[in-house]
Amino acid sequence: MSKKFNDIYLESIQNPEKFWQEASNDIFWFKKPNKILNKSNPPFYKWFEDGVTNTCYNALDIHIDKGRGGKTSLIYDSPITGNKSKFTYDELKSKVSKFAGALKDQGVNKGDRVIIYMPMIPEAVIAMLACGRIGAIHSVVFGGFASNELASRIDDSKAKLLVTASCGFEPGRTVEYKPLVDEAIKQAKHKINKLILFQRKGHEVKLNSQNEISWDEALTNAKDTDCVEMNSNEFAYILYTSGTTGTPKGIVRDIGGHIVALKWTMKNIYNINEEDIWWSASDIGWIVGHSYIVYAPLFKGCTTVLFEGKPVGTPDAGAFWKIISDYKVKSLFTAPTAFRAIKKEDPEGKFFSKYDLSNFESLFLAGERADPDTIKWAESLLKVPVIDHWWQTETSWAISSNCTGIEMMKTKYGSACKAVPGYDVKIIKSDQTLAKPNEMGDIVVKLPLPPGTFPTLWNADQRYKENYMSNYNGYYQTYDAGHIDDDGYIWIMSRTDDIINVAGHRLSTGAIEEVLSEHQSVAECAVLGIADKLKGQLPIGLVVLKAGVDKSHDDISKECIKMVREKIGPVAAFKIAIVIKRLPKTRSGKILRGTIRKIADNEDYKMPPTIDDPAILDEIKSDLIKNNILKK
Ligand code: COA
Ligand code: AMP
Repeated sequence: MSKKFNDIYLESIQNPEKFWQEASNDIFWFKKPNKILNKSNPPFYKWFEDGVTNTCYNALDIHIDKGRGGKTSLIYDSPITGNKSKFTYDELKSKVSKFAGALKDQGVNKGDRVIIYMPMIPEAVIAMLACGRIGAIHSVVFGGFASNELASRIDDSKAKLLVTASCGFEPGRTVEYKPLVDEAIKQAKHKINKLILFQRKGHEVKLNSQNEISWDEALTNAKDTDCVEMNSNEFAYILYTSGTTGTPKGIVRDIGGHIVALKWTMKNIYNINEEDIWWSASDIGWIVGHSYIVYAPLFKGCTTVLFEGKPVGTPDAGAFWKIISDYKVKSLFTAPTAFRAIKKEDPEGKFFSKYDLSNFESLFLAGERADPDTIKWAESLLKVPVIDHWWQTETSWAISSNCTGIEMMKTKYGSACKAVPGYDVKIIKSDQTLAKPNEMGDIVVKLPLPPGTFPTLWNADQRYKENYMSNYNGYYQTYDAGHIDDDGYIWIMSRTDDIINVAGHRLSTGAIEEVLSEHQSVAECAVLGIADKLKGQLPIGLVVLKAGVDKSHDDISKECIKMVREKIGPVAAFKIAIVIKRLPKTRSGKILRGTIRKIADNEDYKMPPTIDDPAILDEIKSDLIKNNILKK
């Protein structure tokens, strides 16, 4: 291990309080914390508990205080609509402080929850920051989720207000938000008080004057509003993510630790300075979008790009190169799927050769496993380091990475590099002992987790404790499995629960199964993620019908697909449902999902000793062949 990185890493593990106290000096506090870490009630650790600060102040005002108000904070580029705009820190602050006033006028106060269900437009970022300004807790819901998912988030967060837009744009179709929002409000048991809707030009929708107001109207009499003082351990946001059941988990982020950690990562992990242009091609509805489109780059005071488009089809496979070239982007962060999509359309990089990427220094990939082929292809095209790093909604920043701002380490294809300072990563084997180098097991992180990670789940302390902190005493269970090699490189191999990653989007197969089980003809079902060349994984559903159902299998399959799209959303990319006779189970009745997945992916599998009827596996195999999932 190299000296520089190693020293910093060891310091963070041996003396975390000193390490993070030093990092905390780099952010703005109304009152600096004296208590750095409260360890009195594990696993509920508190960072900087007597500190007083504000998320929005650290994202905007602080840079203006330092005389950098004229610097570009946000670049919006929407190849899908042809719109582009830029905002200096002064301009963004002015818009945010006005919208914060509008939120207050609509009755939103410190601690209230605000749901943001919007496409990738600057108003979404403005709404997020405005919440921070007045101490409201935002919960951004990804636009690809259906009404049902939105309703469950309204109910769980008990939001006071919802901010939305008239529509979003996906290639070839307009996503009308208003009907989706109306349906969610109808389904939700908790009633929100108010809706603010941003009318997109040429796509205005009718509002009900009683409790719905347009963005522009809301701003009419709104006053500029200052940042409120927030205790470090109050919450900045809730981000719902897939759990092992259909009930999503509300990951919460506390304020002080979030600012300290994210600001630290911009230089140390990504090597980004204040003068740089940074681009994270994700969506604000995901954690990557929260942390690296909005918060970390603005805490750092650099320029962030908000891109409303796709890697391919908006209009072509050169879209990413155009943005990098037009704005002199230094580093890009995206999901491997985006690069697989570009590679598929333009394997020889013909579009790439049209642009000047001389300012481009590095590409970061995360969200799903980065296959070595894609990394090597990107390296040979871009001629810059391509860095795979690993993290989760729960942590909000990377657990393992090449820390390029500290010291560039060598790439090992297939590994997400080494544990980042702050994370004491270990592997625990099935016999509950710590693994030796290269031995596989569950990946865990020794408690306490560093600042910026989730201190609990929204209104669910017990679920937090039981789900994440109980299986291995003193450790956070990541639900990823893998190993650490002799050089300390971490290899993430698979999830140990029912989470799958489809095009970098985190989904629960259990949640899809819950939807399929609601179909009146379905007796039982199994959903699994099978390997897909483009999206990494794709969900497929196997359904067994109730006795006596004589509907065509094709109709049932179509109905199942429609139900998942309506109940979870298009993002589930659920396009395959196969009717089968029986599901393979253990003698105690557990469905052998892992074995079916191996059969579908053409991997070797051992006949499970507890299987009730081995012949079912052959039946499944021939069903998968019949449906073109498995080649003969
Ligand atoms: N609002 C509404 N619908 C959305 C949406 C949004 N914000 N984002 C995706 N969808 C829809 C898509 O239109 C698609 O609908 P369809 O079934 O009608 O075609 C469906 O959800 C599935 O989307 P996706 O899996 O993203 O596939 P795609 O074919 O639209 O795009 C890629 C493929 C590779 C271009 C796309 O997945 C991509 O850009 N991936 C990058 C990964 C990424 O940003 N990950 C975020 C975490 S880092
Ligand atoms: P999300 O919470 O949506 O960020 O998804 C987190 C999960 O995505 C992790 O638990 C991993 O299973 C997977 N993941 C994220 N980054 C990587 C990576 N670099 N390599 C492999 N899997 C990853």
